[in-house]
Amino acid sequence: MRRAGIAALGAYAPAHILSNAALERLVDTTDQWITSRTGIKERRIAASDEASSDLAVQAVRDLARRFPQFDPGALDLILCATATPDTLFPATASLVQHRVSATRAAACDIGAGCTGFVYALALASGMVQAGSAQQVLVLGAETLSRIVDWQDRATCVLFGDGAGAALVAPVERGGFLSFVLGSDGSGASDLCLPAGGSRQPASPHTLQERLHYLRMNGREVFKFAVPALEQSTRQALSHAGLALPDLDLLVPHQANVRILQAAADRLGLPMERVVVNVERYGNTSSASIPLALVEALDQGRLKSGQRAVLAGFGAGLTWGAALVEWSW
Ligand code: UT7
Repeated sequence: MRRAGIAALGAYAPAHILSNAALERLVDTTDQWITSRTGIKERRIAASDEASSDLAVQAVRDLARRFPQFDPGALDLILCATATPDTLFPATASLVQHRVSATRAAACDIGAGCTGFVYALALASGMVQAGSAQQVLVLGAETLSRIVDWQDRATCVLFGDGAGAALVAPVERGGFLSFVLGSDGSGASDLCLPAGGSRQPASPHTLQERLHYLRMNGREVFKFAVPALEQSTRQALSHAGLALPDLDLLVPHQANVRILQAAADRLGLPMERVVVNVERYGNTSSASIPLALVEALDQGRLKSGQRAVLAGFGAGLTWGAALVEWSW
């Protein structure tokens, strides 16, 4: 079977920076608390006229700048991982498909919380490997600032906005070596947006109770996240017949630096081999892995022939890891 890999990447973060100092003026919090509990110093916030599809389009433009051979007209499929679509329907992927003139491409959204980007990569890779698609554009795009409760200090300090784009296509060498995907719906209520769907449609009651905002049981999610990150990384390596010494770089979902340190500790992985940029973006859900990966590549931290695990965890609860051998 042919191999699929990431042929090109792009990312985008909105210009407006919201610092911890600015948050101190908004809710009862301190830079000291946010920094020591999460590692976050600032996050980006979308402009009032920017929705998730707008951020995704900017990420695609960044991809096209970095990879001038990119031809939207050759795309077979666009998958957009997002927990904050422009609207429940149509899919944000369809909006992007129109905006970038991907006239031949099918399009749909993927909902797997912060693991969405890894899920979408796995689906894209499978279709390319099977020969049912030649080029798939995978997006992770979020405007979490629109769904956090700016009166809830326990959550509003954590999240930010951003987008990433990856072109998945056949590769001559390297590419995706394995995927691990998982879900445990028993933890659904630990991280959710209670209202606005078919369970609790919008009503005066849901508005009054602020049920259209993200709710998270931080401690439970933390307890789930550390072993999820550790085990999915180990499994992705072992599925490819490899082990931790074979891993050059871990590119984890950026939720909290303490989660990353704890998982790295369990894996026996020095932090030099873990990409961390949560201090500048906060948690951007499905956009966080491509934002971190683009940065790592720009810094020369991942080179042709080296192996990286991209690992996510989040609402569902879901987890996922992709082992990739970099080919450019
Ligand atoms: O991307 C999806 C996955 N999401 C995650 O991975 C998030 C996982 N969870 C976490 O990262 C952490 O649990 C948090 C950062 C959300 C919270 O850290 P924590 O160390 O678990 O704190 P906590 O929730 O146990 O709260 C500790 C204290 C509480 O006060 P009391 O009850 O001890 O008096 C909170 O009220 O900190 C208080 N607190 C705050 N204080 C100042 C909560 N938020 C804030 C705040 N500023 N922003």
